[in-house]
Amino acid sequence: MRRQRLIFLCVCLLVLLSAAGGEKIQPADGTAELLEEEKYIALTFDDGPRRGTTDRLLDGLKERGASATFFLVGEEIEANQDLVKRMRAEGHQVGNHTWSHVRLADAAPEKIAEEIGKTEAALETLLGESGYWLRPPYGFITEGTEEQIDVPMVKWSVDPRDWESRDTEKVVKAVLQYAKPNSIILLHDIYPTSVDAALQIVDTLQREGYWFVTVEELLALNGIVPQAGAMYRSGNP
Ligand code: NI
Repeated sequence: MRRQRLIFLCVCLLVLLSAAGGEKIQPADGTAELLEEEKYIALTFDDGPRRGTTDRLLDGLKERGASATFFLVGEEIEANQDLVKRMRAEGHQVGNHTWSHVRLADAAPEKIAEEIGKTEAALETLLGESGYWLRPPYGFITEGTEEQIDVPMVKWSVDPRDWESRDTEKVVKAVLQYAKPNSIILLHDIYPTSVDAALQIVDTLQREGYWFVTVEELLALNGIVPQAGAMYRSGNP
């Protein structure tokens, strides 16, 4: 019995190995070559939601079957409840980017708690559930205050500084230059140029065999168990 099971497992492994052997698939239209190898990557968008850009981004992600993570500024939630609900309904991860985009790197513990708590409460009221992951504005919190953060924190490994250039072509180029499997890419869905860039990035990387997943999914795919107060910069274990 054990021997049969072993043979069965070996056959399964062989099938898997031959499937994952980097074989190339030629799509029907013959325009591009797709790699069968699985690569995962996470797009993250800060500072929204904003009507006119976030909705266009959601349309584009939906068309492409791509998931993303949105770190929301709490004071923007009330006027954009439909967009936030849509993010959740369409499989994106929703996260916390403080109430008023304050720099938590030099904030007092009470201020940190207030800024995070108000956004958490707004999201709980709107979407239910709790424990929305945090991206501190500018990527930092006051040193030594990590223990007061009761959710995982997310930084990034690719930053094209889209807010600075506001240039679609530059943003696309910068991201494609540095993106690799398990990257967490930082963009801002409040700029039309960043929305255009994001959709071009998805198109290009999907052709290269990438799957766009949420940060939560990226960590899970790599066997990482997210810890409260820890900062994650990529999906690399
Ligand atoms: Ni921000």
